[in-house]
Amino acid sequence: MSQIIDGKMVAESMKSAIAQEVNELIASGKRPPHLVAILVGENGASETYVANKVKSCGELGFASTLLRFDPTITEAELLKAVQDVNDNPEMDGLIVQLPLPNHINPDRVMETIHPSKDVDGFHPINIGRMAKGLPAYISATPQGVLDLLAYYNIETAGKHCVVVGRSQIVGLPMSILMQRNHPQGNCTVTLTHSRTANLEEMCQQADILIAALGKPEFIKAAHIKPGAVVIDVGLTRIVDTSKKSGFALKGDVDFEEVAPLCSNITPVPKGVGPMTIVSLMKNTLLAAKGVIYPKN
Ligand code: GUN
Repeated sequence: MSQIIDGKMVAESMKSAIAQEVNELIASGKRPPHLVAILVGENGASETYVANKVKSCGELGFASTLLRFDPTITEAELLKAVQDVNDNPEMDGLIVQLPLPNHINPDRVMETIHPSKDVDGFHPINIGRMAKGLPAYISATPQGVLDLLAYYNIETAGKHCVVVGRSQIVGLPMSILMQRNHPQGNCTVTLTHSRTANLEEMCQQADILIAALGKPEFIKAAHIKPGAVVIDVGLTRIVDTSKKSGFALKGDVDFEEVAPLCSNITPVPKGVGPMTIVSLMKNTLLAAKGVIYPKN
């Protein structure tokens, strides 16, 4: 039976370390790190994610500001709101929760966030710097995966890592990170996607399989090389009337089928999910301290 990677436990321990650093910052006379979240419209999942981010700020001693806008906001108005945060020296990090309404171009919004405040790591400058191996904000979910691999001392060098899904938020950065010359890197990487012809055979060759395609329980026993490390980034809400919330969360991996075959596996929930917020908090702390982009 495989080792279950306990993302909740790792996230809690990393949160304590961050809270400690914030205490030290404040004791040295500095203000707490300040995260700003912009939420447009009323998307149920986005509401939950943003509420959790704001809650984590409170728990770790960060300041936070939630800016909510009506779904009818124009793109120009939203860009102005982003610019106002860029110009405010008391605000360290800014996230604009995705997805945005169809009439707003998310790339234009991401590119308007100043790279030094882009704690989601979505700005092309941060993605480009990451690809070159320069200091950059790394997007939260991929960073959370790297932190889990580090915590569990999972050897990555020389391994074949297969990433399923090429999203800008997870699959693409994940594939770049896993091939870097870095303690959690040095893999031979295959990035697969919806047009990959022989996905099952590709996955069967993975020493490390990272599933980030957003299709609940898509990865089955037939995709797995015995002894593989399986990281499940999927998080889909499925209607489940037996639950108080009315939905259940499903990963991209059929856990029951796959878990007995692998060496390590992340569950859903309590796997990669709790790490994502921790990474965001870490990036916001880096922003407050001016580590990646020194403040004048
Ligand atoms: N929507 C889904 N995941 C994310 C995320 O990590 N950041 C932002 N801004 N929006 C998201």
